[in-house]
Amino acid sequence: MIERKPLPYRIRSFEDYQTKYAHSVNDPEGFWSDIAESFHWQQKWDKVLEWDFEKPEVKWFVNGKLNITENCLDRHLETRGNKIALIWEPNDPKERFERLTYRELYNRVNRFANVLKRNGVGKGDRVCIYMPMIPDLTVAVLACARIGAVHSVVFAGFSSHALADRIIDAKAKMVITSDGMYRGAKELPVKRIVDEALERCDSVEKVVVVERTRWAVNMVDGRDVWYHDEVEHVGDDCPAEQMDSEDLLFILYTSGSTGRPKGVVHTCGGYMVYTAYSFLNVFQYEESDVYWCTADVGWITGHSYIIYGPLLNGATTMMFEGVPTYPDPGRFWQVCDKYGVNQFYTAPTAIRALMAHGEDHVYSYSLNSLKVLGTVGEPINEEAWHWYNIHVGKEQCPIVDTWWQTETGGIMISALGPHSPNKPSHAGLPLPGIQPALLNEKGEEIEENEQEGYLVMKFPWPSILRTTYGDHERCRVTYFSHYKNVYFTGDGAKRDKDGLYRIIGRVDDVINVSGHRFGTAEIENAINQNDNVVESAVVGYPHHIKGQGIYAYIILKDSTDTIENLRGEITETCVKEIGPIAKPDKIQFVSGLPKTRSGKIMRRILRKVAEGEPDKLGDTSTLLDPDVVEEIVKGAQ
Ligand code: WT7
Repeated sequence: MIERKPLPYRIRSFEDYQTKYAHSVNDPEGFWSDIAESFHWQQKWDKVLEWDFEKPEVKWFVNGKLNITENCLDRHLETRGNKIALIWEPNDPKERFERLTYRELYNRVNRFANVLKRNGVGKGDRVCIYMPMIPDLTVAVLACARIGAVHSVVFAGFSSHALADRIIDAKAKMVITSDGMYRGAKELPVKRIVDEALERCDSVEKVVVVERTRWAVNMVDGRDVWYHDEVEHVGDDCPAEQMDSEDLLFILYTSGSTGRPKGVVHTCGGYMVYTAYSFLNVFQYEESDVYWCTADVGWITGHSYIIYGPLLNGATTMMFEGVPTYPDPGRFWQVCDKYGVNQFYTAPTAIRALMAHGEDHVYSYSLNSLKVLGTVGEPINEEAWHWYNIHVGKEQCPIVDTWWQTETGGIMISALGPHSPNKPSHAGLPLPGIQPALLNEKGEEIEENEQEGYLVMKFPWPSILRTTYGDHERCRVTYFSHYKNVYFTGDGAKRDKDGLYRIIGRVDDVINVSGHRFGTAEIENAINQNDNVVESAVVGYPHHIKGQGIYAYIILKDSTDTIENLRGEITETCVKEIGPIAKPDKIQFVSGLPKTRSGKIMRRILRKVAEGEPDKLGDTSTLLDPDVVEEIVKGAQ
């Protein structure tokens, strides 16, 4: 048996946390270079960090050369070649599951990479991946990284319109997709959605189709190829492309406060170091553990904590194709027992949805393999936290409430397994290397505890976003211009007497629905596409399962249609423009919107009405037409 070196960056106690935290602040470059040393670099960096938040420009491990897939795969072959890298659980519990060893995954990634090359993709080209949660999705992502192509995964719940917008913005040369997909009781015609999207995308030359459902699909001659045909023509080995630390690894689109989604850019070196380091410490993964993150690879959580973070540490990571309630609300727990899952990472919205089905489903399974439970995506309310802790964790598992963002690339504020404080509804302390602060309205730092403010980061960390694709100014304005010399998260937070952070939620026009992020303007744009609509305003409101629901105030044109028909039509417009996840929960038709004299919609008022607190509208003296508010309050649902 070949000896495995223990990972040098593991934090093993609270004392260790405190020492490392102090080191990371006093000597950030020394702290991060010690960690980076443990990876495989084709050429070492000259300088650890260059940064300037004004521009903004951040470079980590300057001039270092590497390929992240050598770190995820090749370097494990000798010691972990026969260890399971990936376990795949299909949507239908009766279908056969799959297990890939590190060697098998390595082989599949190499062959997929050769298929990409054979179809004209090379270093720097953008590849859009629109696929169900099947092993080929992970393989395709890593295959891109292997040859230096930039992957842009689009969640397969987005509509053809939303997909086309993302393909166009990235100028993707290729799309990788599947024939169809299963998700719970639903079937989705994935390839047909791609075909529709490509009607408006000129940049795409090739579409690689992976077989999943074996449905008949339309294949465009000269453009579309089947993966299983292509792979017959390629060799087994694909050398890993040499990448600069700051070369693009991927683009991932997320919503901001304007109508247009933005392509968050992550680069190779820093992202590798940070996702590996944070995975190991937050989940306290041990060599023989089985780790399961229930997110979709279409979101950052899937990128960082299904694929890269776990594989970089030689972990066994699970991938689940289905949904928590199919075929019944015990599915998560059944799967935990089936594979002996040790770390389980999910979203508060899933916990609340399962809570609503009662504890019996949980108690049908032992769950005795669980060691650490995690949550991500939105604040977890205390009720859900306790339910998770008591019924799932049997009060034996620390809950890591992990706060982070697409832009941060990795977990920023969280407990480290049992080694740092765990308090209901609190993300907790920052990881070593992370320097958060709270600012007041004037942008001054709040030093005291038991205060609330805007959450910012005072110092760069390796996986901070580098730009927004094709629009650096947007990156600067969104994250680096509100307050000088800090990264602005867009979240508000409180710090308790012990310095633990509690995230309150967004302070911008972004709403978080079941952990999915939308700009209110993005949903308004979609609604306004409907021919019957004059104008709309969207706000979030508290929703018992989704965290926030979508409340749309809509002004209609004169229409002969009935109100109920219009409701349905407008909902369909949202599904068509964005996807089913963007359906408004409540639609209120109004004759006007509360505006200031300068024409700005007063969202604060709409929010209060949506929250069911019309008596707390606050100052309405700048309103152009107070009667409008009275009508809205009366008509509220
Ligand atoms: C926003 C980022 C990070 C992966 C999933 C979402 C909210 C995220 C937490 C948490 C409270 C959280 C924030 C953040 N958020 N995690 N543990 N507690 N709020 O990624 O789509 O980029 O959204 O999600 O508001 O800004 P995202």
